[in-house]
Amino acid sequence: MRRFLIETWGCQMNVHDSEKMAGILGPLGYEPTADAGLADLILLNTCSVREKAAEKVFSRLGQLRGLKTLNPELVIAVCGCVAQQEGEAIFRRAPYVDLVMGPRNISRLGNLLEEARREGRSISLARDEDPIPLPASAAARGAGPRAYVTVMEGCNKSCAYCIVPFTRGREVYRPAEEILAEVRELTARGYPEIEFLGQNVNAYHHGTDELSSVLRMSDRIEGVRRLRFTTSHPGHLDRRIMDAMRDVPSVCNHLHLPAQSGSNRILRLMKRGYTRERYLGKIDYLRRNVPGIAFSTDIIVGFPGESEEDFTKTVTLLRDVEFDQVYAFGYSARPGTVAADMPQALPEVVKQERLRSILATQEEIQTRRNSALVGRTFEILLDGRPAKEGTGLRGRTTCNRIVHIPSDATTRDPFLTVRITRAHAHSLSGEPLLGSRAA
Ligand code: SAH
Ligand code: SF4
Ligand code: F3S
Repeated sequence: MRRFLIETWGCQMNVHDSEKMAGILGPLGYEPTADAGLADLILLNTCSVREKAAEKVFSRLGQLRGLKTLNPELVIAVCGCVAQQEGEAIFRRAPYVDLVMGPRNISRLGNLLEEARREGRSISLARDEDPIPLPASAAARGAGPRAYVTVMEGCNKSCAYCIVPFTRGREVYRPAEEILAEVRELTARGYPEIEFLGQNVNAYHHGTDELSSVLRMSDRIEGVRRLRFTTSHPGHLDRRIMDAMRDVPSVCNHLHLPAQSGSNRILRLMKRGYTRERYLGKIDYLRRNVPGIAFSTDIIVGFPGESEEDFTKTVTLLRDVEFDQVYAFGYSARPGTVAADMPQALPEVVKQERLRSILATQEEIQTRRNSALVGRTFEILLDGRPAKEGTGLRGRTTCNRIVHIPSDATTRDPFLTVRITRAHAHSLSGEPLLGSRAA
């Protein structure tokens, strides 16, 4: 038996790609290990969305170099978005790397490993090649109750700051029958929650099918208790998807909807294709139609030319929407993107200051919103076994809030009804209620 270790950075798409790679390696005679020193194959599944993320890969490679000296048979592979972005340059910076493979080439992993062993080196970067669909059982999924299912890959947008369209290529969509077959197989294997994935998930369409119809059809599959989807683009969030969130019982009342900025001037420079008003209009429609809906978002601060006034508009957007969670990032120039050549780049200190201000505003909003939930009752889906005995259990509400249960409650049913006892900025604490239904 050979042993492999996959280290994953970046978004859920990457996490799921790592599951797919693990699923390919099993039948090839590999077993997983958590110890790099014992591995015969180390795969770094990388993210290049910001410069820091991309640089981490090279410092990790530097650490792995020593292992290669100890064990010349060790194969080191770089996959994911940095692989696609840097290509051959990775061999120049780290000549001990054996394999460079883009995210669209995962299904060729077995052949590429053979080639790397035979020839000493292998690279595969075909970007727009249709991904060869993997049979449903191929991905080696994680232990939790949630299973990821790819519905589409790639991104046809061209947001001025973003490298994803370069690394993931043009959009491709899986046929609905294939998606539904995978959902059927997963629920039969006991996964009650399915999360549909795509860089631009709500742009999904195939023949006459679109995301809303896939949600409706999935809901009718036996065993499907919760459906989620990510990441949505505000421009593709049409009435049909919003009405599916209202009408389809298993679709969760949480939406991740990246806003990026609250200033129309910056949104235009970013080429996001919507205004603050249109964004707020959709939030408003969902708030009126989907009870208890929670929103999360992504924000970029310090985009080139962002003035104090533009920034203030982002802060007021946070206050107007009252998001339940915000992922905020300082703008990072990415090679080849339009924004990288824009004048008026902002100093790092300004970005850091704005980031701090966003986080402080959001902390206050979240604490207030979570406090309002104390005393309420929710159904949570347990995340799986606790890391340590006696540390209590952890689950999520349909609105994606984390609830800790500080007890040794043992249960066979992964669904539990809890009453919220305490609120924190980023989670809730609760106690299980026996024999009662969630409100
Ligand atoms: N497809 C998704 C997000 C992809 S990247 C969407 O359209 O929203 C995830 C997040 O990283 C983005 O929402 C954005 O907030 C952030 N991001 C992307 N490029 C960035 C950059 N150059 N600098 C800082 N943050 C960036
Ligand atoms: Fe990047 Fe924009 Fe595509 Fe999202 S929609 S992946 S931010 S280009
Ligand atoms: Fe990163 Fe690629 Fe995802 S750049 S965020 S891993 S699509």
